[in-house]
Amino acid sequence: MAGISQLISTALSSPASPACPFQRGRRSQASAPRRPRAARPAVISCESRPPERVDRREVLLGLGGMCAAGGLGIGRDALALPIQAPDLSKCQPTGTNSGTNCCPPYDATIVDYKFTPTGPPRVRPAAHTVDEAYLAKYKKAVKLMRELPPDDPRSFAQQANVHCAYCDGAYDQVGFPGLELQVHNSWLFFPFHRFYLHFHERILGKLIGDESFALPFWNWDAPAGMTLPKIYTDPRSSLYDPLRDAAHQPPALVDFDLGDAAPTAQRQIDLNLSIMYRQMISSARTTKLFMGQPYRAGGNRNPGSGSLETSPHGPVHVWVGDPKQPNGENMGIFYSAARDPIFYAHHANVDRMWHLWKKLDPRNVDFTDGDWLESSFLFYDEAARLVRVKVKDCLEPEMLGFTYQNVEVPWLRNRATPRSAPSAASSSTSSSSKNQRRAKLLKSARETASFPLTLSSAASVSVKRPKVSRSPADKDKEEEILVVEGIEFNGEVCVKFDVYVDETDTADVKPDDSEFAGSFVNVPHRKGHNTKMAAVKTTLRLGISDLLEDLKLEDEEELLVTLVPRKGKGKFNIGGVRIELSS
Ligand code: C2O
Repeated sequence: MAGISQLISTALSSPASPACPFQRGRRSQASAPRRPRAARPAVISCESRPPERVDRREVLLGLGGMCAAGGLGIGRDALALPIQAPDLSKCQPTGTNSGTNCCPPYDATIVDYKFTPTGPPRVRPAAHTVDEAYLAKYKKAVKLMRELPPDDPRSFAQQANVHCAYCDGAYDQVGFPGLELQVHNSWLFFPFHRFYLHFHERILGKLIGDESFALPFWNWDAPAGMTLPKIYTDPRSSLYDPLRDAAHQPPALVDFDLGDAAPTAQRQIDLNLSIMYRQMISSARTTKLFMGQPYRAGGNRNPGSGSLETSPHGPVHVWVGDPKQPNGENMGIFYSAARDPIFYAHHANVDRMWHLWKKLDPRNVDFTDGDWLESSFLFYDEAARLVRVKVKDCLEPEMLGFTYQNVEVPWLRNRATPRSAPSAASSSTSSSSKNQRRAKLLKSARETASFPLTLSSAASVSVKRPKVSRSPADKDKEEEILVVEGIEFNGEVCVKFDVYVDETDTADVKPDDSEFAGSFVNVPHRKGHNTKMAAVKTTLRLGISDLLEDLKLEDEEELLVTLVPRKGKGKFNIGGVRIELSS
């Protein structure tokens, strides 16, 4: 283990290198790079369906390309539809009743931003390791940021509003009035937050006149970093936020599973490490599974989050927020999350996970899809200029002039194990009684499950696999993915449900058991100004090739899938469950 950790640590500390010079096998689902978009309006006129809930490009291509490649003579490039930076002049308060106005100051002048690193990178330290000198600088920088006039886009309040505006529906997509822009639950999650922290960090550095200042990262993926970092807990410090869960102060350990009862410290650490392994490795074997689903101009928001965004990103938000507040403020709901300085350290570690994932396997690569690369956002920089950034300019931390302190990666061996011995390995009698039980459960699931289903208690469903007994080469080429689709709920509610495979007796099944396939977690966010858009409809995708191998289910034609609601019971629906192969 030390060997692998060392390898990763070394790789992480080495200078920037292209993420992967080659692509092979099952993870190369990203398409070839294309030239930037052009002539979008000409294409839009060909589409007759309303824009909501439709991926415009799929519609266009589905129409036989008749309007695209046909009469109008527009080539494939014309169909490129990256999400465009919002129009600040059209920003609106979010939420329906309380109407939080998180719109930034308006500036009509936009500068296209391309960062050119000069000098050594800023090194982001692990928050639990910083010394007094660093802490004094950091506290001073945040204090000065809090003291800026409230209408200065660099003030702490305005910085927090950036998150609120992009996450709680203050903007519509440019060219699509009424279609809310959302930077969560899709492939925009990692790049949006990377840029957001980049500017936040540079503003802090400028306020204290220190070009080398770097934000700390909350190293929640390592045992020593699993409590709320102490530097945020002093009530007299600028890093403090009163709206946090009083029961979750150090030495309480963060719980990625958001369970009801706290296990022993060692057990909590093991469960967290095992969730890290699943979210970074087992369930993250394709670019889409890890980074999130494609989201293009005119497409519906919330196409589906990547594994790490779902967890532990979501649970850490909910765990920090104050349960006595109406919506788990501050961290537990998106409009207020960035009012807590710990938000930025949380997201620095989330960002570090993107960086780390690409070092874990040569097949872990960024999207090469032009719509992702050309997606853009607006931010205010340290000189208070309004700048437009593009995803393609943030692919490596080094491109933005920062890097991470080299720390151990402790979860590389925490693959889940089966609770009970898999049938093939048991004695023949117990194996046959197990098979009989399985057949009975599958039969009853087939007879009772019907969709859409309101999940108020555990529900089991039998799901057919598209292919069985796949060869190692097949498995290397295509990941098997369990898809829970049509998950619908009011976005203001905290929702969590767990998914199990071949286990209906789920009370004692924990995230370090192979039968536990993963969780769905929604961090609440408010309705946007457009109330029609309050409802969230999204999809959960879980990579299950490792799980099938561990449970020796690779030859089975059907799987028994059990969904168990944990938070928001009865407040959400499930449209269906199926299995697909990545291609
Ligand atoms: Cu923009 Cu952690 O959320």
